[in-house]
Amino acid sequence: MEGGKRLAGTVRVQGSKNAALPVLAASVLIPGTCVFKNVPYITDINCMENLLQSTGADLEKKEAAHALRINAVNIQEYRLPAKYVSAMRSSVVLMGALLGRLGEAIVDYPGGCVIGERPIDLHLFGLEKLGAQIWTDKNRIHAYADELRGALICFPFPSVGATQNTILAAVTARGTTVIKNAAREPEVTALCDFLNKAGACIEIGHDFIATGRIVIRGVEVSCLHGVEYEIIPDRIVAGTYLFAALGAGGSITLENAPVAQLRSVCALIRRMGAEVVPDEEKNRIWVSTDKNRRIQNIPFVETGVYPEFPTDLQSLLLACACVSEGELTIKERIFSSRFKVVEELVRMGADIETLDNKCVRVRGVEKLTGRTVIAQELRGGAALVIAGLAAEGITRVTDIRYIKRGYQDIVGDLKGLGARISYVD
Ligand code: UD1
Repeated sequence: MEGGKRLAGTVRVQGSKNAALPVLAASVLIPGTCVFKNVPYITDINCMENLLQSTGADLEKKEAAHALRINAVNIQEYRLPAKYVSAMRSSVVLMGALLGRLGEAIVDYPGGCVIGERPIDLHLFGLEKLGAQIWTDKNRIHAYADELRGALICFPFPSVGATQNTILAAVTARGTTVIKNAAREPEVTALCDFLNKAGACIEIGHDFIATGRIVIRGVEVSCLHGVEYEIIPDRIVAGTYLFAALGAGGSITLENAPVAQLRSVCALIRRMGAEVVPDEEKNRIWVSTDKNRRIQNIPFVETGVYPEFPTDLQSLLLACACVSEGELTIKERIFSSRFKVVEELVRMGADIETLDNKCVRVRGVEKLTGRTVIAQELRGGAALVIAGLAAEGITRVTDIRYIKRGYQDIVGDLKGLGARISYVD
């Protein structure tokens, strides 16, 4: 990409990766056919499709229409192939779904992006509370249950994946499960909405954000049925393009944007000096920067669980902060080491000081310089693209396979907004 060009125009936000993965995994619980719409075509979804097929589910996809039909009537395989499990951490949510449907699951320790320690103790804690027996054999985890039973489960930390896994196992458990301190992320609510449409009985109260309380009344597998379900838009992709507009400058409109989920992000962007107009009715967000005034860094931002500032947008904010005026300290509170991108940004001329593995301080510079930089993980890779748009000269981002895990067509989307960017072989 060649930086220095202001962005203009409209971009449609793709379906959410993090909402789609658990919802697709949930389809193995259902002895019927589900049709999913607004499915993002990204490599993590391909990986989930392969995993679902390995259980015996029949898949039919219409890529152009972003539609996927999954028939899980005849699934019987509870051992997941190591090559897909090790490629993607979210494969672990299939454990809860397979336990609920077949009473057994065997998976390898999951892989995923290298963003610090990612244990799965809380996933296993939730499943064990529901009565699953869990043991490990070398790198494989076995989970087995003659019968899952409803339980009271209080999470010490509101892990997104562990909450989803526990919900999936609890849907067909005998009796009632109460989860306390569940993750409040919209991708958890979306999973519950999908399961309820398919015949589950899950209650999320109006005070969910305050309490993190979910009540699941177990139903028989035979009560679950196929449904048509539209995947919610991706708040992280939407946030990426908002930060692209801040980094490169310009005026852009996001369509199909999850406006309510981006309140804290919009508020932050406004504090940095951009104009933001969210339109909840039309699912649109318009953002605009002043040609004659640089974006301002604010002193301090920390990541947190929803509805706080999302960890997945931390590196995108960091990329913008590199070319904004003033200083910003960012504290990462969710993952133990999520600053891998710093080294590459510094090679482009950014002034970033690592205070410890949870905190960095950025002093904005006038310009970054285009370079060849290496994507090392999904969101950090996208951050390098944003940095490239804000840099002088040509930037090449290599190893974009990481970016393709979560972005359907980041290059096409940014090109549509007027960026000088293309894929190279
Ligand atoms: C999900 C998202 C990811 C996002 C993260 C936090 C998906 C596919 N991925 O990841 O993009 O960055 O939420 O919003 O939806 N932890 C434990 N033990 C566990 C599980 C988690 O200690 O058993 C820790 C993790 O190491 C991490 C923190 O809890 O430090 C948050 O992890 P979690 O909320 O589980 O994130 P994921 O579900 O992995």
